[in-house]
Formats: sequence, structure tokens, C-alpha cells
Amino acid sequence: MKAGLEGLNPEGKRVLVRVDFNVPLLEDGGIRDDSRMRACLPTIQELRSRSARVILATHLGRPKGKPVEALSTRPLAARLCALLGTEVSWCPECVGPVAVAAAGALRDGEVLLLENLRFHPEEEANELGFAAQLAALADLYVNDAFGTAHRAHASTEGVAHILPAYAGRLMERELAALSEILESPPRPLVAIMGGSKLSTKLGVIDHLLPGVQQLLLGGGMAATFLVAEGAQVGRSLVEPDFVARATEILDRAPSLGAEVHLPTDVVVAAGPESTAAEARSCPAGEVGAEEMILDVGPATARRWSELVQRAGTVVWNGPLGVYENPAFAGATRLVAAAVGESSAVSVTGGGDLQAALESLGLVSKFTHVSTGGGATLEFLEGRELPGVAALRERLAVP
Ligand code: 3PG
Repeated sequence: MKAGLEGLNPEGKRVLVRVDFNVPLLEDGGIRDDSRMRACLPTIQELRSRSARVILATHLGRPKGKPVEALSTRPLAARLCALLGTEVSWCPECVGPVAVAAAGALRDGEVLLLENLRFHPEEEANELGFAAQLAALADLYVNDAFGTAHRAHASTEGVAHILPAYAGRLMERELAALSEILESPPRPLVAIMGGSKLSTKLGVIDHLLPGVQQLLLGGGMAATFLVAEGAQVGRSLVEPDFVARATEILDRAPSLGAEVHLPTDVVVAAGPESTAAEARSCPAGEVGAEEMILDVGPATARRWSELVQRAGTVVWNGPLGVYENPAFAGATRLVAAAVGESSAVSVTGGGDLQAALESLGLVSKFTHVSTGGGATLEFLEGRELPGVAALRERLAVP
């Protein structure tokens, strides 16, 4: 038996599909970005075309175990209806008699979206009784919520021990793309790490270091490495408690065959709101006392572009500068464009990089853009994700 959808016979069956529709919302309650919903369409469409009765369950935000009107999944049903081009019914409960009745009323090929799982504290507590209530809605369980696979919750972990459990197409795609990075990446493997804080990326850097040929360190966290090398970085964001770890990484890398590249030039200004006219680029060691590093400099970005063009694989986590301000998006744009032009397998995910690539119109240039944030980081740290472990225990997930 296979762990994926080819291993199940869903015809006429009620299939509970855990999706991660935890989409970013606008202030007026609208959906800012429906990428995570679109990423689950292949699973939903396949199940529908195979005459399943599809029951979708998700969380949205962090309502802390209580109903919160602004975090209802109702607007998601309307968006899903437009994306699927078919009617999607919505249930104001996710467990209990109302949900059981709604699931029972489904006909072959129909789709139902349940209310936010996290309106119940038992979801995050992975309470067995709640998992059993979810299981009572369906005959089969499919987990397509890679983005929530790092949470051991009733709908991601508990229910997989009760119903026959399978990985959805998105889950499979994510695991295949991210496993390739850790297990057999076409070489050279270039890892690009950015974002503001080194402390949140240490686990990934530690785990990737033995396998990478080149490690490019940008974003705000590069300042902590520059301080470790004795540079003055003015008012840049530095994590003093992590300077020693930065030194240790710089010292350890050569013995592992990894070249570490820090920015040799940087773009600096008074602050993230500064204009391009107020910014300047300078050698990394010449940041003024009142200046902040806000982007990797143009000479470094050109050199890093050459490195990624020669890469077999690029794994990239976190933007290289404060990309929200066009004055500091230059390095992210240049290097991302170079990744797009290269023949490298390119994988991104976790953190703000997806938003950066979207705002720069460069998402489609990548081989795989993960839908996971924390899940992707934990996977790349080498940690077992509880949602994946639960599937693996039952069947042969890769
Ligand atoms: C995410 O957005 O990373 C996932 O949906 C998980 O959400 P959480 O961090 O609130 O558990």
C-alpha cells in the first residue's frame, strides 16, 4: 500500500482532508494571499474527480481555543468556491452533531469546509476525544497541511492514528523537494540565509553546514557575523548573545568543506524607512556609527549571482535586505533573478522570502516555493515533523 492518494480508494467515501488554509488576512478581513489554498487544489480536485466526499479542516490564526469572529473560515469557503469553480458548502462547526450532519449530507464529488479547528482548545492539546470526534466525520484521512506538520495537534497527528491516513499531493511535493536538499542535492549546493535574526536560523545553518559547498549569509543577521569578524556595524541589528555562535560557525565551516561568504559591501542608511537617495553603499567594514546595514551591497550581490548561476542546487531562506522598501530590495532581486536564470534546482521557504519574491514577481522562477514557515525551518533543521511521523508510522511515506 502507498502512502499517497494512489493508495486509497475514495469513491463514495467521506475523506477528511487537513489543509493549511492559515492565509494572511487583510485588515478588513479579506484574504491577502491565497497561495496556501491554491497549493491544495490538486489534492482536492483529484479527490473530487475520484468521487470522494471532501471534508476540509483547517486552522486560521491563533484564536487560543475560543471562537473569534474575525478568524472564521467562512470567507475561505467563498474563495475556495471561486478557485475550484464549484460550490463549496461551509459548516459553522468542526465537530459535533452539526458537523456530522453536514458531512453526512455530502454527495460524491462535493466539498465541505469546516469552521476553524482552533476554536476548540482540544485541537492544540491533541486531545484524543477531539481527534475521535474529527474521525467520526469521515472514513479516510488525508493530510495535505505541510505548513502545520510541525504541530502535534488533533487534526494533524491524533486523527492519523484513528482513520486510515494518507499524504496529500502537496504534502508529498513538499517532502520530496525538501528531502532532496538534505539527502541528494545536485551539487554544488549553495545555501542562502537571510532574514533579521541569526538566533532563528542557527538550527538550519548547523544542519545544512556539513552538506553545503557555499553558504551565503545576508539579511540583518549578517551583522552578527560581521561583528564576529571584528567589523563595526554602527546601529545595525546585532544579537550580542549569538556572536560567539557566529564565530564558531565561521571556524567550523572550512573543516566541513563549506565556504562561508559574508557581504563585503553593504547598503546603509539611517533606518529602514530611509529613501534610496539617503542610502549609500560602502565596504562592510566602513559602516558609520549612526548607520544601519539594510541590504547586501551591489558588488557582493553580483558575486553571489555568479555563484548561484554555477550551483546545482540553491536553498534559500530569508530575504537579503529590508525588501519591503525598494531602496533595500536590490540584492534580493538581483540574486533571485540569477537563481531564476540558472539551471539549479531552487527551493525556498520559511520566513519572509516568499513574500519578498512575490512582491518582486519572481516566485515562478523557483523550482519549489514551500508553503511552510516554521514547518520548513524545522524540516531543514533535521527535526521529525509530528504530522509526517504520524503518516510514516502507518504507511511508507518517503
Ligand atoms: C504557519 O503559518 O506556520 C502554520 O499555519 C502554523 O501556524 P501556527 O504557527 O499558528 O501553528
